[in-house]
Amino acid sequence: MDIRILPLPADKMKSKCTDESQLGFGKLFTDRMFIAEWKVGQGWVDARIEPYAPFVLDPACLVFHYAQEIFEGLKAYKWSDGTIALFRPEMNARRFNLSADRLCMPDVPEELFLKGTEELVRLEKDWIPTSPGTSLYIRPTMIAVEPVLGVKPSDHYYFYIIMSPVGAYYAAGFNPIKIMVEDKYVRAVPGGTGEAKTGGNYACSLKAGLEAKKKGYDQVLWLDGMERRYIEEVGAMNMLFSYGDKVVTAPLEGSILHGVTRDSVIKLADMLGFTVEERKIDIDTLMADIRSGAVKEAFGSGTAAVITPVGALGYKGECLTIGTGGVGTLTQKLYDTLTGIQYGKIEDRFGWLR
Ligand code: COI
Repeated sequence: MDIRILPLPADKMKSKCTDESQLGFGKLFTDRMFIAEWKVGQGWVDARIEPYAPFVLDPACLVFHYAQEIFEGLKAYKWSDGTIALFRPEMNARRFNLSADRLCMPDVPEELFLKGTEELVRLEKDWIPTSPGTSLYIRPTMIAVEPVLGVKPSDHYYFYIIMSPVGAYYAAGFNPIKIMVEDKYVRAVPGGTGEAKTGGNYACSLKAGLEAKKKGYDQVLWLDGMERRYIEEVGAMNMLFSYGDKVVTAPLEGSILHGVTRDSVIKLADMLGFTVEERKIDIDTLMADIRSGAVKEAFGSGTAAVITPVGALGYKGECLTIGTGGVGTLTQKLYDTLTGIQYGKIEDRFGWLR
């Protein structure tokens, strides 16, 4: 499908951030956005890149009432020689369609997803920050825009892509955060929407997140929704634990997100000679292993979070320091290797860059 490029009037151009250390995460947006519409009986129509602007939407649109919405997150990196790289965007295109299927939304052809992303990044390349640790975060989204109050799949959707120059997701930057294991609320259950990237999964996490913040934690680690015994994910990231020569993470069994960074970290850890186990992790066993010192390091992985060290884990009122509580050597090595590939400083042996 061809993408129309609409003119960008001078008065729609925004000023860029001059101090990249102040970027934070997802607060500024570039000048343009991509949008295509899906209409019943027509399929995908009118793909275009136009000036970034608010939507005018009917208050009855299905997305506002029944949360028929999905999204993705990926990044573009600008190298010191000016090359612009996307990291594994095909994985995001595929995951977007897994989410679409779960939410009864139309498939977005992979070609449309990738072409829309690439064209937009090409036009907005001057928005990609270049300071260490910064990138252009890309947020493909699909929303149901049919104005009707009956609970049903929409007959009209917007698939749009917006972009934001970003620094670190956590204010702490690449420094250890504190995570609280949540034993009251749950995020997902088998058969639910836990492995879809849909807004409802994040809306339902807010209450637990606020309560954890009041107790001095940065985020919560979810337990499975049935037995509240096995650890799942953090919401903004998957979790991995180092036992020295092996790395352990929860398996993808339907209720946690198939993280692109998680998959990349598993492959990198394997390449570095670590054994990676994807298996159920019992929270009581994990706490005992942290207490005994068997768990050496813990870290989260995600597009926004990259690799985030976790220095302490709280559960049922007890807060345990993991390893030294600082940034572990494996966490640092994985961070350096992953970001080295993303920023073109380390050879991309896996063919991940586009
Ligand atoms: C991402 O890492 O891209 C995400 O979508 C997580 C989000 C909570 C910021």
